[in-house]
Amino acid sequence: MNILKLQNITMDFGGLRAVNSLNIIIKQGEILALIGPNGAGKSTVFNCIAGVYKPTAGEIYFKNKKIDRQKPWNLCKTGLARTFQIVKPFTSKTVLYNVMTATFLKTSSIKTAEKKALDILQLFNFADKKDVKAGNLTIADLKRLEIARAMATEPKLLLLDEVMAGLRPSEVDDMVSVIKQVRDSGVTIFVIEHIMRAIMALSDNIVVIQFGKKIAQGLPAEIAKDEKVIKAYLGDDYELS
Ligand SMILES: Nc1ncnc2c1ncn2[C@@H]1O[C@H](COP(=O)(O)OP(=O)(O)OP(=O)(O)O)[C@@H](O)[C@H]1O
Ligand SMILES: [Mg+2]
Repeated sequence: MNILKLQNITMDFGGLRAVNSLNIIIKQGEILALIGPNGAGKSTVFNCIAGVYKPTAGEIYFKNKKIDRQKPWNLCKTGLARTFQIVKPFTSKTVLYNVMTATFLKTSSIKTAEKKALDILQLFNFADKKDVKAGNLTIADLKRLEIARAMATEPKLLLLDEVMAGLRPSEVDDMVSVIKQVRDSGVTIFVIEHIMRAIMALSDNIVVIQFGKKIAQGLPAEIAKDEKVIKAYLGDDYELS
């Protein structure tokens, strides 16, 4: 079953066409990656899906319902959650408080919210930091908190925008296994990332865009040797490790 379908999505900012007639389908349970050069339009695609921008043209279907004119908070209630490329926690509040805030989307009981938040922190091996203020976290832990907050809304589809940027290689490996765990718990994942090692390890399927247009789609091994992708993004010296 398809969980998300983008049909001829176009997004203009004044005279700039950031996304150009893009078609993407995500199957339930898969990890689909969106890659491409800086400024290719990746985050804009996420912002269209999450209801931040209204696409200039085209249609978006989530669980077979048309969603391209809905507000982000209503979309979140229907099971669509996202992280931000620039993380935005409540810095003066604890990790637990930050995650609990998101659980209130689905419950009004403080007790239930706390239990759910603690369960999620456990899942992410993060429970030992529950009382640390978000402002004192390392970049790796801030990224982990960003995913934990999104998971606290109990999504069916999770959009991850560069959750591995700025992480050390061992932290990237940890994040790859966290994301796989999230998928194994029944969440479909749409991920934007520049770290190719992580993309190759994670993705079932990869879509490549340049100047807002799809230039390739396929399995990781196919994308790694696609001439157009090598020219536009990966570079000649890219080797599949
Ligand atoms: N709110 C906006 N107003 C005007 N132009 C925008 C806006 N958001 C994005 N753009 C432009 O749209 C294009 C696509 O930007 P976008 O942020 O989607 O790229 P990206 O693929 O996510 O890049 P990166 O890999 O650097 O994060 C860029 O030229 C950007 O400057
Ligand atoms: Mg971006």
